[in-house]
Parts: sequence; structure tokens; C-alpha cells
Amino acid sequence: MRESKRLLRLPLFIFIIFFSLSITSTSADDASVMQKLAKVLNPTPKGWSTNSDPCSPSWPGVGCKSGRVISINLQSLSLSGSLPSDLNTLSELQSLALQRNQLSGDLPTLSSLSNLQTVYLDNNNFTTIPQAFFSGLTSLTTFSINQNRQLASWVIPDDLSNSASLAQFEASNAGVTGTIPSFFGRFSSLRDLRLSYNNLSGGIPSSFSGSLIQNLWLNNQQLSGPIDVLGSMTQLSQVWLQANAFSGPIPDLSNCTSLFDLQLRDNQLTGVIPNSIYDLPKLVNVSFGNNMLQGPYPGFKPGVNVSDSANSKNNFCNSNPGPCDSRVTVLLEVEGAFGYPAKLASLWTGNDPCSGWSFVSCQNSNVERLNIANQQLGGIISPAIANLTSLKVLILSGNNLTGSIPESLTNLSQLQTIDVSNNNLTGKIPVFPQSVNVITTGNPFLGSNSTSGGGNSGSGSSGSGSSSGGGSSGISKSTRNIIIIAAVVCVFALVIAYVFVRRLRKSKQIPLNRVETMKLTAVGPSSNGGTTSGQTSIGNSGHSDVQVFESGSLIISIQDLRQGTDNFNNANIVGRGGFGVVYKGKLPDGRLIAVKRMESSAVSSKGMNEFQAEIAVLTKVRHRHLVALLGYCINGNENLLVYEYMPQGTLGQHLFDWRENNYEALTWKQRLTIALDVGRGIEYLHSLAQKSFIHRDLKPSNILLGDDMRAKVSDFGLVKLAPEGKSCVETRLAGTFGYLAPEYAATGRVTTKSDVYSFGVILMEMVTGRKVLDESQPDERTHLVPWFRRVLINKDNIRKVVDPSLDPDEETFESILKVAELAGYCTSRESHQRPDMGHVVNILSPLVELWKPSSSREDEGSNNSPHRSLSQVLRQWQANEGTFGEGTSILGGDPYHHRTISLDATQTSIPSKPSGFADSFDSMDGR
Ligand SMILES: *[C@@H]1O[C@H](CO)[C@@H](O)[C@H](O)[C@H]1NC(C)=O
Ligand SMILES: *[C@@H]1O[C@H](CO)[C@@H](O)[C@H](O)[C@H]1NC(C)=O
Ligand SMILES: *[C@@H]1O[C@H](CO)[C@@H](O)[C@H](O)[C@H]1NC(C)=O
Ligand SMILES: *[C@@H]1O[C@H](CO)[C@@H](O)[C@H](O)[C@H]1NC(C)=O
Ligand SMILES: *[C@@H]1O[C@H](CO)[C@@H](O)[C@H](O)[C@H]1NC(C)=O
Ligand SMILES: *[C@@H]1O[C@H](CO)[C@@H](O)[C@H](O)[C@H]1NC(C)=O
Repeated sequence: MRESKRLLRLPLFIFIIFFSLSITSTSADDASVMQKLAKVLNPTPKGWSTNSDPCSPSWPGVGCKSGRVISINLQSLSLSGSLPSDLNTLSELQSLALQRNQLSGDLPTLSSLSNLQTVYLDNNNFTTIPQAFFSGLTSLTTFSINQNRQLASWVIPDDLSNSASLAQFEASNAGVTGTIPSFFGRFSSLRDLRLSYNNLSGGIPSSFSGSLIQNLWLNNQQLSGPIDVLGSMTQLSQVWLQANAFSGPIPDLSNCTSLFDLQLRDNQLTGVIPNSIYDLPKLVNVSFGNNMLQGPYPGFKPGVNVSDSANSKNNFCNSNPGPCDSRVTVLLEVEGAFGYPAKLASLWTGNDPCSGWSFVSCQNSNVERLNIANQQLGGIISPAIANLTSLKVLILSGNNLTGSIPESLTNLSQLQTIDVSNNNLTGKIPVFPQSVNVITTGNPFLGSNSTSGGGNSGSGSSGSGSSSGGGSSGISKSTRNIIIIAAVVCVFALVIAYVFVRRLRKSKQIPLNRVETMKLTAVGPSSNGGTTSGQTSIGNSGHSDVQVFESGSLIISIQDLRQGTDNFNNANIVGRGGFGVVYKGKLPDGRLIAVKRMESSAVSSKGMNEFQAEIAVLTKVRHRHLVALLGYCINGNENLLVYEYMPQGTLGQHLFDWRENNYEALTWKQRLTIALDVGRGIEYLHSLAQKSFIHRDLKPSNILLGDDMRAKVSDFGLVKLAPEGKSCVETRLAGTFGYLAPEYAATGRVTTKSDVYSFGVILMEMVTGRKVLDESQPDERTHLVPWFRRVLINKDNIRKVVDPSLDPDEETFESILKVAELAGYCTSRESHQRPDMGHVVNILSPLVELWKPSSSREDEGSNNSPHRSLSQVLRQWQANEGTFGEGTSILGGDPYHHRTISLDATQTSIPSKPSGFADSFDSMDGR
């Protein structure tokens, strides 16, 4: 030790600054910080004290190793107070989970917590982020501070650039200002970058080119500039850029094959939507309303939900998919070569350039003059101008055009004048006929061979060093030198520190077990499947916090609801459950709704989380096979959720109680279609981002049917984002016994495969027409699943157990057989033997296809709703084409206008409202 001190004075100085804490702190220091923490938290967490050792035995929520605190998990404990400023003395800390409390005041620095991997600070009331908060967090993989709206403005600091293992960075609605740092583009592990609802400005850094980011949430702030970098971010799955000021065209996204959710609405995007977007294999949700997009009206495949505002405020040439007028097509290509400047995008609208487009003059509906002089155009001259065969005059002078004059222009037989003077053109001047007046002055490089070939202006920097993609031009040389020197010094200091620490440890007989530390990294936060053991496990709820953002217009007034339900008249009750009542009603705009009304006295305080969770999930997940939340209302001690109304009630009613309800028995075709609908809805839930949602309570009474007998999954009160070790719903498990996967029932451990199990049970019910639990049957048949699985062993037996109302012919029976087998797989005892939902959909869809020739959706609908008028059918057809009315939150097939249906209320779980709840909801709406 002494030698090293002498040898290395300067590094030692730095080292002392950076590492003194970690070197000198001990379990005694840990105890003192933890006791301080226990003191300031209100209420004091259960089992914590101000005088005991946090590690022997370890306090609830505290994980220890070798007497040192390595994890703190205090999420969702309604704690207030502010954190002690020396929290970073806990030098061995690996994970800190404080989300969903009311912690306030300044955040303590996390500086130099070099073991820290995961940090969740979401949903608190912190006020400032201190200097150097992020410095030295070299192991950081997850940082999440969503929903801290009191936070004073802060800029994402350069310190964070040292956290190169970062996989997830979330700071939505957290007061972030400045620009998006370009170092995010160089983090090779970064998958989630969620910065919605802040005050960020500037553009998406060009360093993002080639980045492997999957979820990019930047919506609702002042970001601007082009978005073409998206085209090279091939791992993107969810892109939220809505409500910013992005401009320029939508890039070719054909390499983003995982993209399923693309939100571009409310920007200033211009140009033609690239055709490749329609072939993106995973795309299900897309919005681009309120831009200045041009060209053909988007024509997505069925199954893609185009948000309702797709047709509002854009400049498409027509209002249905299909090609534009050929003159429009050519002019848009010309405009495209200029980069679709906003000026032209806003002026060149509609499908007839001769109807008064600026810069365009016509004769007999032919474009004769194109005069776009002095408009600061960049880009190149499109060869497509040659397609305007009647063109006599072409004037593009006084712009910033580059590239060459296209040879094809010499083919314009009517051309009299071409003026491209005062640009920055290069290349040879093509040989025009004698009769053409060619003006090319003021192009210093024209006629000479210059290097520039394409028309791309800007981006000259050819990359500095090894970083991917250039563009990070902000760093000056001197800063770079400083950084390099600092890095060298730091490395040096690190080495010494390591030696130093090792010695120190040795002398204290505490082994510093690097290898084990590494292992923990791998197992801990990245294991999606389940629980890490007990106290070190961290709930992953950081995500669910941010789903509430889209709630801008979701609050519905109690007056409207009273009026719409005839003051909650009993005559309007369509369902009743343990937690409240469901009313049928109407919004002032005429939409039919189902209102779930819960009184807080009826529910536990935990229930509040479910209420919140349901709102959170439903405002985020939108799919034609998931029932849509239209809004909510909090009134005194009542919580009300407002859904679209599903006129045909639940699958349960149609499957088991159809006689009582005067329904026809469901045909096999209908059952298959419903199964596929449900499969698709759940597949969507499971495939959202890389952290899937798990429904956890899938059963026939949660599957609602529309007049067309298409299904939507409802009741998201129990939906979980990531599997959390301990679910908090034991009491509810009993209610849906039979649908619970064995491992879920036994351990509370839930994965997407638990839903697959429940789905398998529903398939069995569809095949047999029997409830999962049927006390009226002899003992050995009471429980559907084991009985059915026994039957499955011999296929010949299956015919005997098929629902008698199906009375299948051979072909139908073949189909039933396949579904029965699928049901068997889905209910495999071992979750890993069950297929995933995508597989299920793949099996079901060809079966449904088989029936398609004889029956389309309309045809099915007409069986059940004889009163469909022509206009309804038309509306439905339009809806299928992606044209939606204002304000609908359903995407996909069904026009909600004509629903007249009931929502099942059994098992509705809605929670009470703890104090402060209303406030937080009000404020959610505040943006
Ligand atoms: C958060 O802090 C602000 C003041 O800083 C206070 O007005 C507000 O009530 C706090 N909110 C909660 C939920 O504690
Ligand atoms: C897609 O990727 C291929 C192969 O890397 C590349 O050649 C092509 O240019 C890319 N397309 C786009 C639109 O970026
Ligand atoms: C222009 O004409 C060429 C040749 O006739 C054709 O291949 C091309 O598609 C046309 N371009 C547009 C934009 O119409
Ligand atoms: C051309 O571009 C340069 C650099 O981008 C700009 O300074 C100049 O004003 C532009 N000229 C015109 C005529 O728009
Ligand atoms: C014109 O183009 C040349 C290269 O082709 C480039 O160096 C120069 O900066 C450009 N001038 C302007 C005003 O854009
Ligand atoms: C332009 O380049 C071509 C070949 O690339 C060459 O043959 C020609 O001489 C060059 N012209 C001038 C003016 O440099």
C-alpha cells in the first residue's frame, strides 16, 4: 500500500475522490445509513429499526451478502420522507427499488456506486437530481424514474455515458430538458429508451443509426428534425414519436421487421408513406394523423389498427387507398427529390395539380410550367420531371439544389426554357435541343466532374473513432483530449483501487467475490421468467408506471355518466360482481358504454392498484380484440371505469347459458372465430415490447362479444407487466379456480404460459360446452381439465364429449379434433411444454380460414343481428378499411356506434381509493 501511494500521487488523489467511499465503507456504515433511512421513512417499513443491523437478520426488503446491503426493495409501500444524502455509502448496493411511494425532496447522489445495476424511482415526488448523480455507475443496466413530475428540470448528464451496459433508461414525465444525448446510440445493450412527456428538444441523434433499441418512446415534447435514422434501427418494436415537431418524410422501415407499434401522429411529417410499410410483418398499431403526409391514402392489411385520426389533417391525394392521379404521382416524386419540404407539402394537396397548386401552371389539365424559384429547396432534380410530357417551362433557380441535371429532361419535347441558375449543381450539362433556352449560371461546379453524386446535404463528418455512425460532432477537440486523459487516469486509478480494495478486503477476511457479483448480474434483473429469490427480487413495475400517459382525454365527468345511465338507474344494470355494478349507458356523443362502478367501501386498498392497473393497461394496449377503455371517472369514493359496450354479453353466456338467455347455440365456426380472436388479443398482450403483459384472469366471463359475434378480451384489473414473484391476488384466485395454471395456483408465479393454460381450458369448454367445474357431473368428470385430458388419450372418445349442440359433420369434427389437441397442449402440466400464443394463433387461423369461403364477417353477423342496416354494414366495411370516426379508441374492425351490449361484471375487481389518489389522476390529465 505504501509503495503505491508514493508511486502514484496524482492518480491517488483522483482515486480518493472516486473511491474513498467504497474503500472505507463497511457493514457498520451500511447499518448506519440504513438506520438513517429507517428513521426518515414514514411510516417506518415493517421490521426496520433505527438500532438493529439491517443484515442480521436482514430487514424485510433488504438483501444482504457477506454482511453488506446489496438490495433495497421498498416499492409500493406508501412511504414518504426524503432519502439520506449519504445513501451512496452503501457501496455494495446492486439494486434499489423505491418506485410507487410518495418520497420527496432531493435525490441523494448515486455517484460511484459501481455495483449498482438496477434503480427504480418511478412514481414518487422527488424534486431534484443532484450533480454527479450518475457518475461512476459503471454497472448500471436499468434506470427508471418515470412519473416524477415535481422534478426540477434536468439534463441527462454526460456522466451517464460511462454506464455502457445500460439496457433500459426510462425517464418519462420526469422534467428532462435539453437534447437526447448521442451516447445512447453507442450503448450496445440499450433496448428501452423511454423519455415521453418531457421538455426535450432537438432531434434524434444520428448516432442512433444501427442502434439495437427496441422501444423508443419520445412522444409529447418539442423534438424536431427528420426521423430517417429509424430506418437503420432494425430492432425497433415500439416507436412513439407522436405529438412532437418531427419533419421530413417517413423513412423506409422495411428492415425494422419487429416493429409492431408506430405512433407518428401530430408531427409535421411530409411526403408519401413508403409502400414498404404495408408489408411490415409485425405491425399492428400505427397512427399518423395530423401531419402533412401526401400521396395515396394508406391501405394497410386487415389486422393493422390505424388510429382514428389517420385521415384527419393530412394531405393525402384521396380519402381511400388507391393510386393518385398520375400528374400528382410525378409531382410528388419531384417533391420527394427535394426532401418533401414542408412548404410544398402544405401547398400541394388534393388529387389535381391543375386545381391551383402553387408553382404549377396547366393548360388543358396538363402541367405546362413548373416554377419553383427561390424557395430554399435542397436535394436534387428528379428525373421524373421528364414524365410531365407537356412541360414547356421549368424554373428551379435560386435554390440549393445539388447533384446533376437529369439526362431525361432532354426528352421533354415541348420544353422551351429550363432555368437552374444559382444552385449548387454539378456534373455535365445534358445536351438539350437547340430550341431550348438553358440557363445554368451561378452553379460553380456545374460542368466539371465533382465528387458529389447524391443529393444529401449535411452530414459530412465521416465518423470519429470507432463509434458507430458519425454525427456526434458536438465534442470539441479539447474536450475530447480531456476525456481521453480522464479516461486514462480513471483506468489507472481503477487498477490501483482494485489492488487496494483487495488488500483491504483480505486484511478484513471479507472475500471480494467478483465472479459471484457477475453471476448476480446475469440472473437478477434480466431473468424475465420469474422470481429471484426472496429479498433480492425486484419488481419490474417500472414499466407499468408509464402507461398512463396517453390519458389526455380520458376523464369523463360524473354528470355525463349520471345522465347517460339515467342516474345509475337499476334498470340499466347489466352485470353485478363482488366489487361493484356494471351499468349500460350512453355518452353525450351517443356512444353506448358500459360503466363499471365501484365503491371504495367494497374494496380493499390493494384494489386501488388494480383500478389503476386497469386504466394503465387499457390506455396503452389497444387492439381490436381487447375491449377498449373509453375513460374513467373518480367521484368522491366511487371509481368508475367506462368501456365500449359489447352488446352480446360474455362467451360464458353463449356457451353455457344460451338457453336461459334465448341465444342460439354457438356454431363451431363461431367458436373457432372467437377462439382466434381471443388468441390474437392475448398474443398481442404477450408480445408488447419485450416485457409482455399477462392477463392472469382469462375465462369465458371475461370474453365479450359484439353483434358480429367477434370477441374481445376484457377485465385487465389483474394484468401484470412482468412476472412478479408474489402476486397480490390470492383471494381472487379462488374465484377463477379451474383456469389457473398449476404452477400459478401453487406458487403464485405467473408467466405468459399461465394465460396459455387458461386459454386451453377455454378451448376445452368450447369443444365440450361444459364448464370447467361442473358439480352436477359424477366425481371423475367434475373437473373438466383432467377429465378431458384423459379423454384425449384415445381420439375415438372425443366424439362422445363434443358439445351435443354442435352435432358435427366429418369435416367439422376434424377441426374439433385439432382444437381438442391444441387444448391438450395448452394445458400441459409443465409450462414449458405449452405452446406460446403466437403458435396457438398459427394453428387456429388456418382452421378459421377453412370456413371463410362460406362465411365472411358480415354473414356471421347477420345470423345474430337481423337488424343490421345497410349503413351499418357500410360503416363496418369502412372500419375494416381503416377509416374511423372521430374519437373512437378502438381500432380495427367494428364500428362501436352500433353496439348494444352487456358487460360482464362478475369477478370485477376494483379497488378503493386511497387518499391522494384523485389528485394523482387529476394531474395525469394535466398535460
Ligand atoms: C409533491 O410535492 C409537492 C410540492 O413539492 C406537493 O404540493 C404535493 O402535494 C406532493 N405530492 C405528493 C403526492 O406527495
Ligand atoms: C436493409 O438492409 C439491407 C441489408 O443490410 C441493406 O442492403 C438495405 O439497404 C437496407 N434497407 C434500408 C431501407 O435501409
Ligand atoms: C416516369 O416514366 C417512366 C418511363 O415511362 C416510368 O417508368 C416511371 O414509373 C414514371 N414515373 C412516374 C413517377 O410516373
Ligand atoms: C443553401 O444552404 C446553405 C447551407 O446549408 C445556406 O447557408 C444557404 O442560405 C442556402 N441558400 C439558399 C439560397 O437557400
Ligand atoms: C456546393 O457543393 C459543394 C460540393 O459539391 C460544397 O462543398 C459546397 O459547400 C456547396 N455549397 C453550398 C452553398 O451549399
Ligand atoms: C469527368 O469524368 C469523366 C470520367 O469520370 C472524364 O472522362 C471526363 O474527362 C471528366 N470531365 C471533366 C471536365 O473533368
